[in-house]
Amino acid sequence: MGRVLVTGGAGFIGSHLVDALIKQTEVAVLDNLSTGHKENIAHHMDNPSFEFVEGSISSERDVERAIPDVDSVFHMAAQPDVRFSVSDPLTDFEMNVVGSMRLLEYLRKADVTKIVFASSGGTVYGDSEVSPTPEETRLSPISNYGAAKSAFEMYLSSYAELYGMSAVSMRLGNIIGPRSTAGVVYDFYQKLKRDPTRLEVLGNGEQTKAYMYVTDAVRAAVLLADRMEIGHLPVNVSSGERLRVSRIAEIVCDGLGARNARIEFTGSERGWKGDVVETDLDVTLLRSFGWTPSISIEHGIALYLDWLVESFGPVD
Ligand SMILES: NC(=O)c1ccc[n+]([C@@H]2O[C@H](COP(=O)([O-])OP(=O)(O)OC[C@H]3O[C@@H](n4cnc5c(N)ncnc54)[C@H](O)[C@@H]3O)[C@@H](O)[C@H]2O)c1
Repeated sequence: MGRVLVTGGAGFIGSHLVDALIKQTEVAVLDNLSTGHKENIAHHMDNPSFEFVEGSISSERDVERAIPDVDSVFHMAAQPDVRFSVSDPLTDFEMNVVGSMRLLEYLRKADVTKIVFASSGGTVYGDSEVSPTPEETRLSPISNYGAAKSAFEMYLSSYAELYGMSAVSMRLGNIIGPRSTAGVVYDFYQKLKRDPTRLEVLGNGEQTKAYMYVTDAVRAAVLLADRMEIGHLPVNVSSGERLRVSRIAEIVCDGLGARNARIEFTGSERGWKGDVVETDLDVTLLRSFGWTPSISIEHGIALYLDWLVESFGPVD
């Protein structure tokens, strides 16, 4: 692999990807630090094989600073919040569709032809009736975030055909692990830290979703980049394991020593507008590339809780 660019490389998943890629090649990161943090990549700043460009994927000048000699791009930068996309669809569109399109155009003009995109298996299929859901399933998002991810995938398909690009859309499950400050486990930790006697769970607790530990997702990204061919290939990237939200609540309470916390469900079917309550991603295609999971989800949650306690303190 030649020099690579990771957009959003100071974020949760992007920074773990940088940790893996830097072992094999030169890495540039382009990040505007809107939700990412310099601390996530601070340990690479003195490495001559690493370059950090603070800037936006929407700025031609910033992208030009980041792409000299780059031959492939991992596009992780995004507005990552489903709920934000529901309350402010236009800003989400500007960031996740227009921003990504600008980046894609700058890449085309610079003859950078390989792109691995962080799409979302948890949202592009919507309430799929096919379970586990394979990649051929019709895209039917029920959130604006999922619509934006789907739209950009369509452009990767047309760019691959028109301009000979090689593109992979990683339809990621719910990714957990250190450096994440979003998602259900983080939400439960925060609530228990505020009040270790009770835990409010959004929805009826029956929501059951596909999860994956972050380093397993990163291994999949690197593997898929190595196998990329001309065309657009969507690939579900998840562990194949699912967990019910009520079970996650129990694991988190146990793991944080809040065994007596009262678990209270708000009761609705969806946790929030746009929430896909059942996700089950078929990972046969990913496995056919030789990928296997190395960390079970329950173990992954335990590792993540260790990091949360170390970083933000115990739940008393
Ligand atoms: N975390 C998950 O469970 C999950 C699931 C499915 C898909 N994804 C996708 O994976 C990618 C990474 O998600 P994450 O959880 O690490 O989120 P994150 O918020 O930690 O990372 C996103 C990064 O993009 C940067 N960014 C945002 N807009 C930018 C712009 N215009 N220019 C440059 N940088 C910009 C942010 O500063 C941040 O560092 C996103 O595309 C997200 O939509 C994440």
